[in-house]
Amino acid sequence: MKVIEHIGQMQETSRALRREGKEIGFVPTMGALHEGHLSLIRRCKEENDTTVVSIFVNPTQFGPTEDYERYPRDLEGDSEKLRSLGVDILFFPSVEEMYPEGYSTYVEVEGLSNHLCGLFRPSHFRGVATVVTKLFNIVMPHRAYFGLKDYQQALIIKRMVRDLNMDVQIITCPTVREVDGLAMSSRNQYLSESERRSATVIYRTLLRAKEALERGEDFGTVKTLMVETLSSEPHVKEIQYASVYDPESLEDLSQRQREDYSGSEVLLAIAVIIGPARLIDNMLVRLRD
Ligand code: PAF
Repeated sequence: MKVIEHIGQMQETSRALRREGKEIGFVPTMGALHEGHLSLIRRCKEENDTTVVSIFVNPTQFGPTEDYERYPRDLEGDSEKLRSLGVDILFFPSVEEMYPEGYSTYVEVEGLSNHLCGLFRPSHFRGVATVVTKLFNIVMPHRAYFGLKDYQQALIIKRMVRDLNMDVQIITCPTVREVDGLAMSSRNQYLSESERRSATVIYRTLLRAKEALERGEDFGTVKTLMVETLSSEPHVKEIQYASVYDPESLEDLSQRQREDYSGSEVLLAIAVIIGPARLIDNMLVRLRD
């Protein structure tokens, strides 16, 4: 595996690969790799000639009181995993090179960024859209892979690519779960043993909400059920959101008639604070006609 730390060298390498007619697949990450990332990388390897993975803990997507400093970093362990999967290139730039002094350009996807996580992390998606744009300009991939645990992120990136005519295909992959249903996340490492047990309430809530939708309950009732289920777990310190949403606009549907969505998909989504960790999860559910 080739490790590239400099932007210019990554661009030269990608240009050369493209000249040779190679298709470049790209998995952007912030490291602390888990099975969720590895599933994206496996898919990327299947569908491309060259697989590039980036590891960059992006400061612009963290708020001033968030976990940028303590976000888990494990370059050695990550490199080992990437090597064993046969990744071709690890791109590992420094903050100074990505955001040199005087840096002042940001990408903002309006509308979609103001729902769900955007309400609690006001500049988060601006940071994500900016760094993903920069990484696309540096790696020049044909395809890029994102996990659906970060459903809103994937939707925003697809919108950005469409709106800015970026020449890259965005591929979304299913959420990978622990055996007890907890969605894999680098932030699960923050949980104590008892908080980790409590965190299973998130997936349980999604399953109960799905069953309620399948029984024909209205959206408002499903939202109440979600909030009650999450609140029953003492380690849940805060419920930031838990409801039924439109999967395209991310509008909260709890005041809307479910008949308007017969035969369509809706999104169940949750963000909670458990101990020191902010955890999110979601599930798409198709309503019967
Ligand atoms: O999902 C992530 O890990 C990050 O938001 C991403 C896409 C790598 C941008 O920093």
